[in-house]
Amino acid sequence: MRVGVPKEIKLQEHRVGLTPEAAREYVAAGHTVLVQTGAGAGIDADDDAYRAAGARIAATADEVFAQSDMIVKVKEPQRGEWSRLREGQILFTYLHLAPDPDQTRGLISSGCTAIAYETVTDRTGALPLLAPMSEVAGRLAIEAAGAALRRHSGGRGLLIGGVPGVPPARIVVIGGGVVGVNAARVAAGLGADIIVLDRSLPRLRYLDDLFGGRVRTRFSTLKAVEDEVLQADAVIGAVLVPGASAPRLVARSTLARMKRGAVLVDVAIDQGGCFETSRPTTHAEPTYEVDGVVHYCVANMPGAVPLTSSYALNNATLPFGLALANRGLRAIVEDPHLAAGLNVHRGRITNRAVAESLAAEYTPVATALAA
Ligand SMILES: NC(=O)c1ccc[n+]([C@@H]2O[C@H](COP(=O)([O-])OP(=O)(O)OC[C@H]3O[C@@H](n4cnc5c(N)ncnc54)[C@H](O)[C@@H]3O)[C@@H](O)[C@H]2O)c1
Repeated sequence: MRVGVPKEIKLQEHRVGLTPEAAREYVAAGHTVLVQTGAGAGIDADDDAYRAAGARIAATADEVFAQSDMIVKVKEPQRGEWSRLREGQILFTYLHLAPDPDQTRGLISSGCTAIAYETVTDRTGALPLLAPMSEVAGRLAIEAAGAALRRHSGGRGLLIGGVPGVPPARIVVIGGGVVGVNAARVAAGLGADIIVLDRSLPRLRYLDDLFGGRVRTRFSTLKAVEDEVLQADAVIGAVLVPGASAPRLVARSTLARMKRGAVLVDVAIDQGGCFETSRPTTHAEPTYEVDGVVHYCVANMPGAVPLTSSYALNNATLPFGLALANRGLRAIVEDPHLAAGLNVHRGRITNRAVAESLAAEYTPVATALAA
């Protein structure tokens, strides 16, 4: 199969669909890889690195789209890219179609076969192509908290780990899933005083075992969240209720009673945020202050570290991408987890949640593939 990697054109997006290492795997499996010149610039991989991996370099995006059977990207295709896609072509990337009717219409009219990273599943029902970005965001959340706690950033002027004789920062992590466990891990490494709240008892048991008592756990009730937030130096919002907006767990009225210069890092901002006062920010201006509390609410945190993020993403996408390159649509028929990733096929919406959120017609995957 001819596999194409265009340069990402979304603002501030520096990740790339295939790293040179991943490109080499496709080439070794007998596929042709076509990479747009400069596509790897954001991860310090120049055209020669792709050539050394056996890929060919294309001068333009048009060339990549026109000559490829499968396009591998990171972000959802932008307006100018929809018309370049065509029937019979596979698109493998993050899509997030539910809140994006324009893009959905663009993919429908292209006739392409669009597989969304974020809805591919694994045996446990988890989302393996979302997890790596949650790992990155969880670890970054503590770095963000550390920077925001500094005095010149409006924070309390506190070092996360303290020093001998001076206590460390008290960090409260709300939600002990992938983001939460990674935040707790980095915070523990820095020497913080950490508590993780979750509503899942099995998850709290797992965290208790994992950290061997180094991290305290507490069942997440409204009272528990309030108690902990009032004592916190930094709070990491890491909750997720699948398919729903993030629950609002910290009310504006609570802020006035928090420590001055405390920090709220709302990782769940991409689902609307779990603090009442959260609003999305960018890497250019990541923080703002409400009632003396510093808010960090960057919606695409992994974008800050495209090198780490691209490799983390490729580690997760590679087996699925290779299956698609090796077996084409049969890979979707044979693998229910890839089938869960199919969102649009030849003009039909094949993901129920996407169809429902757009009040559009839903076609089951098997029906769409058989048509
Ligand atoms: N801002 C970014 O750049 C970025 C990057 C990656 C992920 N995220 C977001 O981070 C959030 C967390 O992602 P994840 O992968 O860790 O999800 P996850 O499903 O692994 O974990 C979520 C956890 O929240 C818990 N939870 C649900 N309701 C709760 C409540 N009321 N109190 C406490 N815990 C509660 C769940 O039991 C679960 O353990 C999601 O909204 C995700 O979209 C944001």
